[in-house]
Amino acid sequence: MTGPQPAGLPSPSPDALASAAAASGAASSGPLPSGAGSPVFDPTVPNAARIYDYLLGGKDHFPPDRDAGGRLVDMMPLIKASVRANREFLIRAVKDLAGRGCDAFIDLGSGLPTQRNVHQVVQDINPDARVVYVDHDPTVIAHGRAILNAPGVDMLQGDLRQPDRILDSPILTGLIDLRRPVVVVAVAVLHFVADQDDPGAIIDRLRARLAPGSRIVLSHACLDGVPQEALTKGVAIYRNTATPITPRSKKEISELLAECELEEPGLVAVSDWKPEPDEPHEDVGEARFVGGVADLRAHGRPEEP
Ligand SMILES: C[S@@+](CC[C@H](N)C(=O)[O-])C[C@H]1O[C@@H](n2cnc3c(N)ncnc32)[C@H](O)[C@@H]1O
Repeated sequence: MTGPQPAGLPSPSPDALASAAAASGAASSGPLPSGAGSPVFDPTVPNAARIYDYLLGGKDHFPPDRDAGGRLVDMMPLIKASVRANREFLIRAVKDLAGRGCDAFIDLGSGLPTQRNVHQVVQDINPDARVVYVDHDPTVIAHGRAILNAPGVDMLQGDLRQPDRILDSPILTGLIDLRRPVVVVAVAVLHFVADQDDPGAIIDRLRARLAPGSRIVLSHACLDGVPQEALTKGVAIYRNTATPITPRSKKEISELLAECELEEPGLVAVSDWKPEPDEPHEDVGEARFVGGVADLRAHGRPEEP
């Protein structure tokens, strides 16, 4: 590979990316209303997964990702703490659900592998728990396949804007029985779905396809209280990536879950979701991620159109 090297894992070669995509059953996503496609590997263009990795303190990013992340920090100095709080929320939520007997997890927009990945958290509680990681970014898939190889775990290249393709993938159905309840993890990803691509319809489709008792763990960038200038500049930074960002108000985020039943404590700042007493509570300023856990099928199945 030529070009800048990331500070951490060696970057997958184009061949590795191609074979990871083939092995993961990647299919062309087809046109979507927003026109936004899936990322291709390009170290010269900032990338959502790698910017997040940079903000989280990981090692898998290139100079353009660090530059974009640095500009976000300049505008929102507490954003690194917000991202850490988001990741801690994800870990607490899946741990909580595994502790309540949930044993099948689909992690949509899973991101680059990090220190405590979903399968490590839930298999600590139930070694038989199964986890399918899904991301549309071929770099995430290639790194994931190299690292997340454990019994009961697989990775799939897929676009959450096409939930049926994900749920029908033989990789997923080989590991997860969709006639039984599953947990969908959609953490820090639905803000990458533009209004034209209808994030609410994605949740409706999950409600239509998944068994009663299924849950969703959701978090989302929240624009409430973020100064207008930071918001405008932040959105502009992501406009240069393959995944433009659409932060939403807490009201809009709760509307995405309108047909689901939120568990206590509801949709809250992620650091306020069942905090653990011994966990440090970092100041994240305005709560930039809100999150919650909801029962997808509490109100039945949506009508087929
Ligand atoms: C901010 S990271 C979040 C990672 C992880 N869920 C977490 O919260 O720690 C967002 C991830 O979603 C992925 N992503 C964005 N849009 C997607 C889409 N339409 N389908 C699948 N993955 C997507 C990106 O590639 C990236 O890896």
